[in-house]
Amino acid sequence: MGRKGILEMAKKRILSGMRPSGKLHVGHLVGALANWAALQDEYECFYMVADWHALTTEYENPSGIKTNIKEMVIDWISAGLDPKKCTMFVQSQVLEHAELHLLLSMFIPLSWLERCPTYKQQQQELKDKNLSTYGFLGYPVLQAADILVYKAEAVPVGEDQLPHLELCREIARRFNFLYKSVFPEPQALLTRAPKLLGADGRKMSKSYNNCVFLSDPPQVIREKVSFMITDPSRIRANDPGHPDVCTVYGLHKIFTSPKVDSITADCKSGKIGCVACKKILSESLIERLKPIQAKRKDLEANPKEVARILKQGRLSAQKITQETLKEVRKAIGL
Ligand code: TRP
Ligand code: SF4
Repeated sequence: MGRKGILEMAKKRILSGMRPSGKLHVGHLVGALANWAALQDEYECFYMVADWHALTTEYENPSGIKTNIKEMVIDWISAGLDPKKCTMFVQSQVLEHAELHLLLSMFIPLSWLERCPTYKQQQQELKDKNLSTYGFLGYPVLQAADILVYKAEAVPVGEDQLPHLELCREIARRFNFLYKSVFPEPQALLTRAPKLLGADGRKMSKSYNNCVFLSDPPQVIREKVSFMITDPSRIRANDPGHPDVCTVYGLHKIFTSPKVDSITADCKSGKIGCVACKKILSESLIERLKPIQAKRKDLEANPKEVARILKQGRLSAQKITQETLKEVRKAIGL
């Protein structure tokens, strides 16, 4: 076994996934990507594009999924996921996820899925879609299969995914009880990331059309920042401001961190106006995104590279998933 193999053996294995939503925004960067990149040295990491999960809600209009996968993976690599250190792959290319999902579905009581809080919530939020489907009810089962098929010990996720992870642990326990102890119960590696607000003061999200994208050129960033809402009680530039209610300030805390104390003081005392303050923020953002955008440019000029990385990822993933499925079939007696 090579040096890499021996090192990998000592590391804990983790898996996480993202639905392919196309180009990513700075909320994804601070919420997940920077954390994923930081975990690469310490863990054996599997990062998955959850395209089947996307299909559970986009089944009527799946035509964008393919381009979204490519754009998202370009952003992953540009933001620091290194194919030499982690495995990036597309869920639908590793068929064992589907086989395990099917096998798990045999013994999961419907009530476990119906009471999962994200099920009702999402149906409420996405009212324009019919999500009373078999596939959507099984969303957490597919997610459990994603995790268990790698026997991952931990899963880096945000708080919103904790119910799915809890369900995954229950599913692992039930499998181990019914057949044979095959699966470890995966732990959550909770990402305590600040929730970034978008230009309109709501959570930054593509569906609100209020995002700064990792790929936005400097001029677009300046323009978007100039339209962000600030402290509404500030009318004149020298009125004393309240940074804690200001969207721009929330972004300063992350992207202008060394200077944030002076910004706080200058805002409160009315020494700095919002126009000047926003200029500082757009320059900080531009600076932070510069290396990411340079890397994106390289990858765009070299489209085969992304395909090569994903193929390599698929092969590494399959080595593990095929072994797990052998063990699973045997445990069930198939
Ligand atoms: N449901 C997750 C989300 O929407 C994406 C996902 C799919 C995932 N499979 C996963 C996350 C496995 C962690 C582990 O963000
Ligand atoms: Fe927000 Fe800056 Fe204006 Fe203060 S000065 S309200 S922090 S934009």
